[in-house]
Amino acid sequence: MPDRIRLDGRVAVVTGAAGVIGIATMQLLAKRGAHIVAVDRKPRELQAAIRDLPGSARPLAITADVTREEEVAEYVRAAVDTFGTIDVFYNNAGIEGDIAPITRYSLETFRRVLDVNVVRVFLGLKHVLPVMLKRNKGSIINTASIAGLIGSPDIAAYSASKHAVIGLTKSAALECSQTGVRVNCVCPGLIDSRMLSAIIDGRNPGNATVPTDKVAERIPARRLGQASEVASIVAFLASDEASYVSGSAYTVDGGRTAA
Ligand SMILES: NC(=O)c1ccc[n+]([C@@H]2O[C@H](COP(=O)([O-])OP(=O)(O)OC[C@H]3O[C@@H](n4cnc5c(N)ncnc54)[C@H](O)[C@@H]3O)[C@@H](O)[C@H]2O)c1
Repeated sequence: MPDRIRLDGRVAVVTGAAGVIGIATMQLLAKRGAHIVAVDRKPRELQAAIRDLPGSARPLAITADVTREEEVAEYVRAAVDTFGTIDVFYNNAGIEGDIAPITRYSLETFRRVLDVNVVRVFLGLKHVLPVMLKRNKGSIINTASIAGLIGSPDIAAYSASKHAVIGLTKSAALECSQTGVRVNCVCPGLIDSRMLSAIIDGRNPGNATVPTDKVAERIPARRLGQASEVASIVAFLASDEASYVSGSAYTVDGGRTAA
């Protein structure tokens, strides 16, 4: 009997591939047997990100801005031209934006955050879904955040954008409900990462870096999460083990939103 967690020969497209969560996820998907198409806007970081992937992943790196429709269409075309199809789509690129209260938040940044965090999810769905629906098979995982489930002071644009990702995920899942295509999202909590440090530093201007254990006090698990722990959920949702899972928002947050 085949191991339903394995992804042997599946084609996985990962955006935000040069970031900490993208890298950890590509590594796990590749370890489980997937071929990898890595997409990011930063070419040098992208090359570094795919360097340690196993040869079996046959990594294809594509530099693209995921907010530009023609570039999204192009990475989808490149994945299909190279590997024949897309089985798994990890729609993950994102930015935190400015860290400031609404009264001091610039409209330009607000629009930019929605563009990267919401429009890229829409564009990814728009261009990848036809490939999957044609074969009546596939799994899409969008990256939301626990900021999509609860309010977050000083990152209102980010929080609004992640609420929107959950709405897009559920709507897409329903549009695909009579098909073999599943759409879910992950909601990471406080992950040990550059993005979390930027948010914490932005909330404490002028102060020395806030120690990790101080931040961890607000988390029931009393520690930050690791990118690899987000990757585990993404790889599960990508696999046939999750065959009856669609329209879900999986928290990976050490109990933060349960408290
Ligand atoms: N780090 C956390 O604590 C945390 C928590 C919850 C959710 N998230 C979400 O997880 C995802 C990944 O976060 P991360 O921690 O790996 O961040 P990161 O900053 O390390 O990586 C994000 C990657 O996205 C890329 N990117 C940004 N805008 C892009 C664009 N327009 N086109 C193409 N690529 C673009 C960046 O170049 C970067 O490599 C994001 O959607 C983020 O909002 C992160």
